[in-house]
Amino acid sequence: MEDKALDLAPDKSIRTYVLRAGRMTDAQRKALVELAPRYCVPVRPGEALDPRAVFGNDHPLVAEIGFGMGEATWRIAQANPAINYLGLEVHTPGVGRLLCQIEDQGLENLRIVHFDAVEYLESHVPAASLAGLHIFYPDPWPKKRHHKRRLLRPGLVELLVSRLAPGAYLYFVTDVADYAEWTLDLLRATAGLKNRHQDYAPHQEWRPETKFEARANRDGGQAFEILFEKVWQQGNIRITY
Ligand SMILES: C[S@@+](CC[C@H](N)C(=O)[O-])C[C@H]1O[C@@H](n2cnc3c(N)ncnc32)[C@H](O)[C@@H]1O
Repeated sequence: MEDKALDLAPDKSIRTYVLRAGRMTDAQRKALVELAPRYCVPVRPGEALDPRAVFGNDHPLVAEIGFGMGEATWRIAQANPAINYLGLEVHTPGVGRLLCQIEDQGLENLRIVHFDAVEYLESHVPAASLAGLHIFYPDPWPKKRHHKRRLLRPGLVELLVSRLAPGAYLYFVTDVADYAEWTLDLLRATAGLKNRHQDYAPHQEWRPETKFEARANRDGGQAFEILFEKVWQQGNIRITY
């Protein structure tokens, strides 16, 4: 997809993840064969995401990068049937698990992209098409030499923001203080965004605990929540979610 305003060339090839081995249950394995054709969005070269074709309606679309095992993902989708959700994940057991939940809960408003979210957003998701973006407990890449692998980093943040519609939100949560500060500074310095709060956001009651969050909380971790909004710019249509 053409996007001349963005030059991500220096960063594009640096992956934000390492594929974890992870044991697969029989149910997950079966779901990947039987349910993926129904609930995973096919990734085809040069083909843009068409939310109306995927969901059969024009409801606002919220994407989540790195849903892990997808527990919070399906619960949020279940609680908000008038919003469509697209979960992007490379961890195959997690995709299998979420496929089972979509089937068991009968969720019409949640679909999966089993693919690198960065590549998918760049090549398949139209600009200004998302009403929201969730990033919960992303890999923190704590070593300085690995900071270039962070999902929230200069060179990638512009891509994420370009996919948000005016008025759409970016909701980021981590328990790693250094990554939280880095992200707050980065988003404050990014054109086209404004913080919905003075500093960190209060806990958003509608967000269920994720698997990594439960683990962090057991270890006495603290959640840092960040909630920014894409601002209206001249030439854009104002939409409020
Ligand atoms: C630390 S885990 C957190 C999972 C979940 N959000 C939670 O809180 O339990 C981060 C997840 O992001 C996924 N991830 C990282 N970069 C990704 C990318 N570019 N595309 C898709 N998934 C990605 C990883 O596979 C991993 O499952």
